[in-house]
Amino acid sequence: MVGIAAIPGINPMRFLYMRVRAFFRTKGPTLGKQTRLIDCGCVADNCQIGECSNLQASSIGEFVRIGRNSRIRRSHIDDNVYIGNDGALEHNRIKCYVSIADRYSIVNTSIDSYTYISYGARIVEASIGRFCSIGPNIIVGHGDHPTDYMSTSPVFFSLMKQCGITFCKEQAFSEVKPVIIGHDVWIGANVFIRGGIRIGNGAIIGAGAVVTKDVPAYAIVGGVPAKIIRYRFNEEAIEQLQKMEWWHWDEVTLRNAQDVMAQTDINRFLQWVNDNA
Ligand SMILES: CC(C)(COP(=O)(O)OP(=O)(O)OC[C@H]1O[C@@H](n2cnc3c(N)ncnc32)[C@H](O)[C@@H]1OP(=O)(O)O)[C@@H](O)C(=O)NCCC(=O)NCCS
Repeated sequence: MVGIAAIPGINPMRFLYMRVRAFFRTKGPTLGKQTRLIDCGCVADNCQIGECSNLQASSIGEFVRIGRNSRIRRSHIDDNVYIGNDGALEHNRIKCYVSIADRYSIVNTSIDSYTYISYGARIVEASIGRFCSIGPNIIVGHGDHPTDYMSTSPVFFSLMKQCGITFCKEQAFSEVKPVIIGHDVWIGANVFIRGGIRIGNGAIIGAGAVVTKDVPAYAIVGGVPAKIIRYRFNEEAIEQLQKMEWWHWDEVTLRNAQDVMAQTDINRFLQWVNDNA
């Protein structure tokens, strides 16, 4: 067997130091007072769960922080995720480096890496891509009622028993339709996105918008109902961005690209991609 000292480029003292440091830094999950874990698969080391939280049938990765009064059911949360106080997650898949601020209610949703969601989110049945920035008080999905039935009350069309009772034997209207939000989408404060809508990659939704139609990639939309204000880039550039899918690059490449990402000349970015392909 080759000893560590014989591997070129590795300083044995530093290697030893890193192992000892990793050993002492690792500690089991820290649970606040009155926090309960019920049938949870894996709750990894180094995660913190605030007081009065309730986790059921979920798995929690390393370095995850969950605030107080959180109810988390049937959800899978990867490493390095932050979840705030006073909220509920039900049946979600949350990838690493996602942050969700206080007072959330998120159901049947997948959230991809490097995305943050501000406080007060109400999201049902959505798929949210990477690098999305979501402003406060968003409402996504949350179901429609029929506009052309005799009554709009779910008592007559839904098995969900919204009022604790239903008069139907089977579901008579499809209430909830999935919403798909692409990658690198910025959504301003107080936006409503109707069920069944698709938001293209790179789109911007202005504050206060009510989105009732699909939003094309790299469009900026705003208003009630939301209309296209302009496109962020010309057609050719949008096509190139869509094809290259930079949001799937590895972390080293993204770090190297940082300074061409944070500037206004799209051609400088496209040139950098060409030169570094
Ligand atoms: C949409 C937004 C990104 C601006 O985009 P922009 O292309 O730079 O817009 P401009 O300021 O050049 O305005 C262009 C037009 O859009 C209108 N507009 C701007 N924001 C709008 C909005 N939220 N809703 C409707 N119309 C809007 C402007 O009035 C202007 O209209 P005009 O051409 O008739 O004068 C910005 O207004 C916005 O809503 N940001 C969200 C901020 C926010 O919520 N932050 C907190 C959470 S992260």
